[in-house]
Order: sequence, then structure tokens, then C-alpha cells
Amino acid sequence: MKKFFNQIPVKIGVSILLIETILLSMMGVFYVRSFNREIDQRVLEKLALPGILMSQRALNYDSVNNHQIIGELVHETVLETFITKRNGVIFYAADELMLGKHIKQFLAPEEQLQITDDSARNQQITFKTSEGNNFISSLSEIRHNDKNLGFLYIKIDSTKIEQEKRHIVLLFLLGSLLTIFLTTLVEAFYIHRLFVPRIQAISTVLKRTKTGDLTTRVSLFGPEDEFHVLIHLINSMLNTVSETITTLTDTQEALKASGERFRELSDLLPEGVFELDVNGYFTYVNLQLCEVSQYSREELCQKLQFTDILIEEDIQRSSENFKERIEGQLNVSSEYKARRKDGTVLQVMVNASSIVQQDQFKGLRGIVVDLTEKNRLQKQLWQTQKMESIGQLSASIAHEFGNPLVGIHWLLVDIQHLPNLDESQKQLVTLGLHECKKLKNLITNFQAFAKPSSDEKRYYDINQILDDILLLYKKYITDKNVDIVINYQKNLPRIQVVKDQVHQVFVNILMNALDALHANKRKIFITTLQRDSQVLVIIKDNGCGITDENLDHIFEPFFSTKPEAKGTGLGLYVSHLITKNHNGKIQVESTRGEGSIFTISLPVEGLAL
Ligand SMILES: Nc1ncnc2c1ncn2[C@@H]1O[C@H](COP(=O)(O)OP(=O)(O)O)[C@@H](O)[C@H]1O
Ligand SMILES: [Mg+2]
Repeated sequence: MKKFFNQIPVKIGVSILLIETILLSMMGVFYVRSFNREIDQRVLEKLALPGILMSQRALNYDSVNNHQIIGELVHETVLETFITKRNGVIFYAADELMLGKHIKQFLAPEEQLQITDDSARNQQITFKTSEGNNFISSLSEIRHNDKNLGFLYIKIDSTKIEQEKRHIVLLFLLGSLLTIFLTTLVEAFYIHRLFVPRIQAISTVLKRTKTGDLTTRVSLFGPEDEFHVLIHLINSMLNTVSETITTLTDTQEALKASGERFRELSDLLPEGVFELDVNGYFTYVNLQLCEVSQYSREELCQKLQFTDILIEEDIQRSSENFKERIEGQLNVSSEYKARRKDGTVLQVMVNASSIVQQDQFKGLRGIVVDLTEKNRLQKQLWQTQKMESIGQLSASIAHEFGNPLVGIHWLLVDIQHLPNLDESQKQLVTLGLHECKKLKNLITNFQAFAKPSSDEKRYYDINQILDDILLLYKKYITDKNVDIVINYQKNLPRIQVVKDQVHQVFVNILMNALDALHANKRKIFITTLQRDSQVLVIIKDNGCGITDENLDHIFEPFFSTKPEAKGTGLGLYVSHLITKNHNGKIQVESTRGEGSIFTISLPVEGLAL
């Protein structure tokens, strides 16, 4: 119901109804009053008529005896009539008992007629008795020759007149109601037709807009009134909104794309990238930072401050730096020690700049460089340089030491052949010769190691390279009393390698295997095979094996468990570098006391058919 009355057409209709009712009521009061006055006037005129007729002697005084004659003249039911003198004393009446008496005796209390000597005028009064009856009584002057002869009193029953008056009111009321009803109906219909369809059209379009449909517009219909203008304005507003939203969506998508591009690129960076809020909490981290710190993105961005991933000693310094940046100090890169999730510590360099939006500091963004790798590379470079100098040194050692050693060797041979040497002296000389041989071997190794590689890749049969090595070291192997078991895959594909380098790898691993063998049951298995796109060379010994602890270090340069004269700790390191250079790898399986298996895999890709 409330909803019904809230509708604009209903409100307008009700307002019109109220205005019409008020206007018609006012008009009604005015018209009813004038009608009543008109009726009263008419009655007065009618009641004055017998008096006028008597004044003109056209009506006899004794006609008052017959109410019917007067009644016909005034067209009303006459109840009483008589004639008085000027002073109010009755001198003509139908009832003789009234004669000579004063009129006042016969007037009702409500009937206020003024009868005095000077009341020479027509009077009329409408009154209602206490019993509720309506009457009109009148006193009409009877004049003759400009002389007042007396008054004619007529009393009539005005019930009919009152009824007539009520009828008029009733009729007017009914007429007004009918008019109000009909006009309201017509107006309501007209207003409804004028407003409702257009309001509905507007609200349908606005509802659709609310659900995201910005393509519909309000159709223009109806007269060219304010509504027309309003619809026009709504449509142009919808056009503007839709254009703005399209621009906004485009901008948003461009922003999203640029954000994604930034994220993808930042994830590809080798350095850690981060953003911090004003309180030092991570708001963005790239993949690399997650990998370095071992924390997930969620862990870093949802609960950690930058100080949470630094070692305690660095927290104060880093917090001070953070504060300085907030206060607008220049950016400087600082080195800190960070703590990974697993507790291990790493050296990092942080380069950050402040995030300022609308002149307000919003945080910091920057990059984190893991210095561990840099330090390792530096160390490796230093070691490579060291190795390079060892290589050069070995060449000169071989050169400088080689000739004197030959001299010493032959000197000792001469001494050995001296006739008067006792047993212990002979033993000492043999020992000297043995040491000479060892030195010669070392020099030869150094020479081989120092010799620059051809660096030229060609297609070779790996089985052939291995056979060459075995032939070369045949005597050495036999002297060592080692049983070599060969198991080559036939038709092994030829692969592209730098021959002397790969040769070096196999020799290094074979020599290690020989060194590892126990005193008896000395066996080495050499197997070749193709697996998928790899050629595998497996060198297996039944020697001492490698401890788990040493297994982590055997490929490091200068790591050796052998006595100083024998081991340089460079064999596996160099072998590793060479295989890596050939896009291959070396894998080791070893059981302490049982032996080791070294598997060298080299890619077949680009093989010669
Ligand atoms: N087949 C093997 N069996 C047992 N230990 C081995 C074997 N190969 C290598 N090792 C271990 O690896 C170390 C490093 O080898 P390498 O780099 O060739 O240096 P080196 O032979 O001069 O000691 C050796 O000292 C040895 O402890
Ligand atoms: Mg070795």
C-alpha cells in the first residue's frame, strides 16, 4: 500500500484530488450560500406580495380569514395570518379571540419580530422551534397614501424550503464528488500515460546498467517535455560512463599486463628483487629471492620483515639504513649476511631505492645479489689461475728437472754396477733409482698436463681411444698385476670430442682406479655402451671405495687423499671440467671397502654416421 502511494503519478493524483476538493468545497460554500440567499429573497418577495396587494387595495383585509387565499398567493402552506395596527395590536384575524390583543402574545420565543410604533418596515424571520419545526414569519407593511396602516403577519411552514435548501447542498455535493472523481480519473489516466511508461523505461535501463550492461539506452518517446530532456541526459550520461569504463578497463588491462610482464621478467632475473612497505614487511619478492632465501613467496610476503632474514649482528645496521632511506638519504648498496630458512648464512649485497607516491614514502624496492656465487667464482678463478701457473711451472720443472734427473739416473746405474758394493749399499742405490723413476713419472704427468690441448673437436670411436690408452699403459698395468675386464658395445657411435682431452679424462680415472686397488684380487672393468642419446664409459674397480664425506669433495681442485708425492688432487677436477666442456658429466657410485664405479657420459648429438 505504501509502495502504491509512493508512486509519482499516485502522488500527483492525490494532490490534484486534494486541491480539487478544497476548491470545490470553497466554491460549494459560496454557491450554497448564494442559493440560500436567493431562496430567502424569493420567499421574502412572495411573503411581501399580499401586503403590497393590500396596500394597493387589491386584496381585502378579510382575506386573512382564509389562509388558502394567502397560501395561493405566496405558494406556501400558511399556518397563521392576521393584521395588526402599527403598534402591534391585532385588528383582523380569523380567530376572533385574537382581536385587540398585542401580537407579542402569539409570537414564539424564537420569533424575534420587532413590533414598535416606529418599526415601519417589512420584516422576516426564519426560525426553528424547540420542538425542531421550521417556520418563516413575516410582517409586511400596509401602506396607503404614504401612511402606515398596519402590518400583515404571515407565518408559513418552512420545512419544504429547508428541504429544498438541503437538496441543493446534497445535489451540489454529489455533483462535486462526481466532478472530482471523473476529473481525477481522467487526470490519473493522463498522468499515468505521460509518466509511467517513461519512468519504467528509465528504470529498466538503469537496472541493466547496474548489472553491468552498458549497451542499452532509454528510447525516446512521448511529448517533448522535461522528461524528454531527462532521458536525453541519462543517455548521454550512460555514453560517458560506458566510454570511461572502457578506458578504465583498457587501462586496467594494460596495467595488469605490465604488472605481469614486470613479474615474469623479474622472475627471470638472476638477482633477488623485493619490495618492502613502510614497516619493512615484504610486499613483493621474485622467484630468485625465494630460491636464495628458501622461503616461499607467501611466507615472505605475508609475515616476514627484512630483519627476519638477516643475522643478528646485521639487524641494527640494516634498520638504520632503512630509516635513512625513509628520510630521503641517498641510495647506497650495503652488504649483509642473510640467514636462509635452513639456518645457513650467505653474504648478500642489497641495492635499494625508496618508493615515493604522492610525496609520501611508501617503502623500499631493490635487488639482492647473492655474493656466495660471486665469491665462489672468484675463488675458482684464482684457483684456475693458480693451476695455470702450475701448468707453466710444471713445464719448466719438467724441462729444468728432466735432464739432471736423467744424469742422476745414469749416475746411479753406474754406481749400481760398481763391483765392491755391499748389499745395503746396493739396496740404497736401487731405492735411489726407484725414486728417480717416480720423479720421472711425475714430470711426464706434469708435461702431459701442461701440454696445450688442440681444442679441436672431431669424430672419434671411444672404444678406440680406450684401446690406445690400454696399449700405452700395458706394461704399467701388467707390472701392477691388475686384471682388466673389457666389455665394449660393438658399433658404438662415433662422437665429437677433443681427443687428447677425453684421453686425459679416461687416463685420470683409470689411474685412480689402479691406485685404489687392494693388494690382491685386483680387477678393473671397463664397459662402453650407448644409452639413449649418451655414450657411457663405465670404469669400475674393486678397490678401497670412497667415504661419503670424501665423495662430496673429490671433484674439488687439490683434493687428494694420496701421499704428497703421488697425488696432486687435480685429476678429477680437470676431468670434470673437460666432460662439462663436452656437455657430458661424470657420476660416481662408491661403497667403502668394496670399490667404485665412475660413469662418464658424453652426448651422441652430432654423431657421425
Ligand atoms: N677409484 C677410486 N677409488 C677410491 N678413491 C678414489 C678413486 N678415484 C678417486 N678417488 C679419490 O679422489 C681423490 C681425488 O682424485 P684425483 O682428483 O684424481 O686426485 P689424486 O688422484 O691426485 O689424488 C683421490 O685422492 C682419492 O681419494
Ligand atoms: Mg688421480
